[in-house]
Amino acid sequence: MTDILDTEAIRGFRRMCEDGWLEGWHERNGGNLTYRMSDADVAAARPGFSAAPREWVEMGITAENLAGEFFVTTGSGKFLRNVALDAAANVGIVELNGTGSAYRVVWGLEGGAVPTSELPTHLMNHSIRKQVTDGANRVIYHCHATNVIALTYVLPLTARDFTRALWQSATECPVVFPEGVGVCPWMVPGGADIAMATSELMRTYQAVVWAQHGLFASGPDFDVTFGLAHTIEKSAEIYWKVLATGRPIAQTITDDALRAIARDFGVQLNEDFLD
Ligand code: 13P
Ligand code: ZN
Repeated sequence: MTDILDTEAIRGFRRMCEDGWLEGWHERNGGNLTYRMSDADVAAARPGFSAAPREWVEMGITAENLAGEFFVTTGSGKFLRNVALDAAANVGIVELNGTGSAYRVVWGLEGGAVPTSELPTHLMNHSIRKQVTDGANRVIYHCHATNVIALTYVLPLTARDFTRALWQSATECPVVFPEGVGVCPWMVPGGADIAMATSELMRTYQAVVWAQHGLFASGPDFDVTFGLAHTIEKSAEIYWKVLATGRPIAQTITDDALRAIARDFGVQLNEDFLD
């Protein structure tokens, strides 16, 4: 019998937690990750599920199109730094009930740990991304990406301002997120309100910035989702390095150049963000 820790889903999940920690985006228990398992993932992991699953827990949100699905999730208050050392204590697998309103832990989160406090936001985002990508998206990642957070103190909190700053700071950005990035004003984390606000933005955007808090990124697998967060954070870092010189910007990527990138790479840029 395959050890659950050796399954592809858990190995990929552990690696992504480790990669985010190494980038410096997960101080203390900062950030969280969830993965919507495929049928093959569930079949591979099922032999390792607890004989007696825990009680059902109502979530305060309902994600109908996720009913009966299984998710790998980080634990609330758990440090992503520790996931590689002891996944069963810091990560778990939860099953959603037949209406998508409650979960129960079927593996991991040992010692009475519970899923991330951002589970409502993750699941609402999964629900929307599953819908708008015809089931292709499976990963939702929340990180405290330093340079992105810092930008939320100086840029107007609009999708247009953030998207233009990021597109202009690194040539691959318009290719990686041609629709732009969404921006959520500061809100109390962990509740249904921020879950609704974020998931509405995720209808349009693959990634959403949380003012003075961090970034949410979505994608079909761990590589693409981590790559999206990495690309956005790197672009924000470049923007800061430019600002930090205090020198006037002599040139940037023009709107015509952005359109030329889109044409040659075959992507459709969000015209709302071009002049
Ligand atoms: P959790 O430890 O509950 O996942 O919370 C961390 C966090 O980043 C909240 O936004
Ligand atoms: Zn956070």
